[in-house]
Amino acid sequence: MASVKLTDVKKVYDNKVTAVHDFNLEIQDKEFIVFVGPSGCGKSTTLRMIAGLEDISGGTLEIDGQVVNDLQPKDRDIAMVFQNYALYPHMTVYDNIAFSLRLKKVPEDEVYERVTNAAQILGITEYLTRKPRALSGGQRQRVAIGRAMVRNAKVFLMDEPLSNLDAKLRNQMRAEIIQLRQKLETTFIYVTHDQTEAMTLGDRIVIMRDGIIEQVGTPQEVFDTPVNLFVAGFIGSPQMNFLKASLIRTGDSFSVSLLGVNLALNPDQNEVLTRKGIGSQEVILGIRPEHTAVLFEPDQNAIECTIDVYEMMGSELHLHLTDQNSDRIIVRLPTIDLTREQRQHLSFGNRLFISFPAKVMHLFDPETEKSLIDG
Ligand SMILES: Nc1ncnc2c1ncn2[C@@H]1O[C@H](COP(=O)(O)OP(=O)(O)OP(=O)(O)O)[C@@H](O)[C@H]1O
Ligand SMILES: [Mg+2]
Repeated sequence: MASVKLTDVKKVYDNKVTAVHDFNLEIQDKEFIVFVGPSGCGKSTTLRMIAGLEDISGGTLEIDGQVVNDLQPKDRDIAMVFQNYALYPHMTVYDNIAFSLRLKKVPEDEVYERVTNAAQILGITEYLTRKPRALSGGQRQRVAIGRAMVRNAKVFLMDEPLSNLDAKLRNQMRAEIIQLRQKLETTFIYVTHDQTEAMTLGDRIVIMRDGIIEQVGTPQEVFDTPVNLFVAGFIGSPQMNFLKASLIRTGDSFSVSLLGVNLALNPDQNEVLTRKGIGSQEVILGIRPEHTAVLFEPDQNAIECTIDVYEMMGSELHLHLTDQNSDRIIVRLPTIDLTREQRQHLSFGNRLFISFPAKVMHLFDPETEKSLIDG
């Protein structure tokens, strides 16, 4: 059992860099939390403060309701897996995994029990007598996880554990971490800069930028209702398209106008905007590539674009388009329903028309970058 609570946790390094500003988060027992964000946003710093490897400059850190700010790392009952594995090269896999247990003077028969059990869960039993250099990257990664597992820690911290692996192995290990999580009844805090990893692993995702939490939510929440332009652009691949547009208020009804097209919002959206007292204003319209319909003929509700780049992905096409405002737009188009004539039309310089329903539209204020509808 372990909940983790951070209240106004702050990190100021000796060189006066404030790496983390007033971080507030309550992590539930057995929850899988992912910290995600661009390089330098403070993910590792936050994780290392939780582990006790870095002093906390301000605020409180609680584990199971107990303030642990001044507790030594070894007394926090936390296990951590690092990006570079940090295995001891001269020890066998067995001894690497057993290392922390022997330090704690755990009896050898229990060490054996725990090491072989972890090895079995991770599928590395046959490598127990090898040295780390005789293992592949993925196998080393499993040893590093095994070493953390045997400690039966209350909280399991992982800092970019898959970033040294190639794409295929990374997908495989990601699936294994999902399985591992089901076997270990532990709280996980996982750091990555990869939004796909965050989306697939996290019960909740914490999206960070410049030492600040931008949004916390389930993968579905942060995808469906990003609270600002940064989150909208960070979550989802290819990233959300952003177009200059005007929001027009008529009574309590709103529409979005761009490039001669006028798109009415739906009743829920009207209600939110009216409640917030928003009037007519310039907006940034956000549309995800997968939410955009492609038409081959003009339509009064469709925006005219030209094709710049055409990427064949197999089951779908990624089309890079430019509208008449010079906004760049990426569209995902399933290939299965395309006729031969339509495929032939999809080449550089040709015209296409795109449309989308009100329910997939995200609207952002150009000044504050905050969402007008979501959140
Ligand atoms: N020991 C240190 N002394 C001074 N500044 C540091 C130290 N460690 C990190 N920083 C700074 O703190 C900020 C946050 O760094 P941190 O390592 O937490 O980022 P991160 O989100 O883990 O990035 P990455 O994805 O590249 O690992 C950065 O601006 C970094 O330069
Ligand atoms: Mg880091």
